[in-house]
Amino acid sequence: MMKKISGTVFVCSNCGNEFRRWAGQCPSCKEWNSLKEVTGRISGTTSKGGRVQRSSRTENKSEVVNLGRLRQNSGEPREIVDVFSTNIGEFDRVLGKGVVRGAVVLFAGEPGIGKSTLLTQLVGNVGGLYAAGEESAEQIGLRVKRLGLDANKFDVLGTNSIDEIIEVLERTNKLYKLVVVDSIQVMMASEASGATGSPSQIREGTFRLVEAAKRLGVAIFIVGHVTKDGDIAGPKLLEHMVDTVLYFEGEKNGDLRILRCSKNRFGSNDEVGVFVMEEKGLKEMRSDEINLVASNAMAPGKVLTVVMEGSRPMMVEIQALVTESFGQFPKRVFSGVDFNRGQLLMAVAQKVLGIPMYNQDVYVSVSGGLRIEDTGADLAVVGAIWSSFKNQALKSAPNPSFDKEGKNDGQTHRSARTNVLCGEVSLLGEVKKVRGWERRKKEAERLGRKMVEIEKLVDLKKMV
Ligand code: TYD
Ligand code: MG
Repeated sequence: MMKKISGTVFVCSNCGNEFRRWAGQCPSCKEWNSLKEVTGRISGTTSKGGRVQRSSRTENKSEVVNLGRLRQNSGEPREIVDVFSTNIGEFDRVLGKGVVRGAVVLFAGEPGIGKSTLLTQLVGNVGGLYAAGEESAEQIGLRVKRLGLDANKFDVLGTNSIDEIIEVLERTNKLYKLVVVDSIQVMMASEASGATGSPSQIREGTFRLVEAAKRLGVAIFIVGHVTKDGDIAGPKLLEHMVDTVLYFEGEKNGDLRILRCSKNRFGSNDEVGVFVMEEKGLKEMRSDEINLVASNAMAPGKVLTVVMEGSRPMMVEIQALVTESFGQFPKRVFSGVDFNRGQLLMAVAQKVLGIPMYNQDVYVSVSGGLRIEDTGADLAVVGAIWSSFKNQALKSAPNPSFDKEGKNDGQTHRSARTNVLCGEVSLLGEVKKVRGWERRKKEAERLGRKMVEIEKLVDLKKMV
């Protein structure tokens, strides 16, 4: 039975499910400490377990549609999937082929990372409506000018109302094939509970946009801000409602930006797009233009690796700092490397290389603000930790640079330009070859480096 629930509910900031009662651990996704109290009226149904479920049925009666006879309102037959290009190669690649009509794309990222800039470029390229809730039409106009885009293709609607956006789309009757809503956090959906930016507002607003996108055949890009600590009113709540989820990431003070797809109903979700933020907006980077390694000089704690981002190899620098700890608990700080993966690699390093981790602070970071998910970087992370611990740059490969007696053959292989390490590290300290090996090797060579082949983690000892 549909019924209105008033009072307090608890919303999980990780999975977005709602519960009647607070719990230390989310009963649904098992995340700890993620339930936040939200007061207000939320419409939905409750199941016995006290879980609040959203009614997914709308008032309209559903019809059975034969796909062969699928027609638009006008009576014209239309293609079932109608895709248009963004005219930005990297953007298209991440989306699959391009933008699918009627698709809803969540475009998430930290404030200031460049979401509005890229989406302004998108609208400027293909034409469309920009619903701006954060900036005035004048400000958008200035940006359009600054980016050198065609202002005629660009319609701006200054609004904070979801209903107004949908009303305009209905009134203009399929004039737009693309709409940007910037951002969902500042939009209000009438008659929905909660303040602007609250989980219930964000979800109801998105729900209405999704419905309108499907009904009117317009692609909608919804901007969502994320904060570092995974804000409750953030995009996590919306992931299951939309067709595609894109994350725009990078270091705010650096200029590299990565467009990553974490869900894609219309294509693969493992391609990334690479951009640099310039004076005149975001410029796409071809694979042969990318170089995230700042300097050629090697130093203690620095190791290079090639990670695969989708089908694209990228050489990055891993830096580690290992120092004696004087606190009660040694520090572990990983930036760009998954914390649990980092912990595991430290444990293996303790066992295999004999680093006394209990009294060492460990900091690890990745160049360019890249967030690595590829386990092919494992060996480089351990290598950097080892190199910093020994306070020596890794010098040369044990194989084949070493002769049969295991001695280094002198000058040539002592070159610092050889230490690119790739490989997945197992719990037992074996090093496994990773997918895309040849491509990684080629990328290292393109940037004037050589890949070092190691079979056992313990061989790192021969490199200092
Ligand atoms: P913006 O797109 O407003 O970020 P978001 O919408 O994700 O919050 O981008 C903000 C930053 O980008 C701002 O600090 C200035 C910079 N920027 C450029 O460097 N070049 C440009 O051409 C533009 C438009 C912005
Ligand atoms: Mg913005």
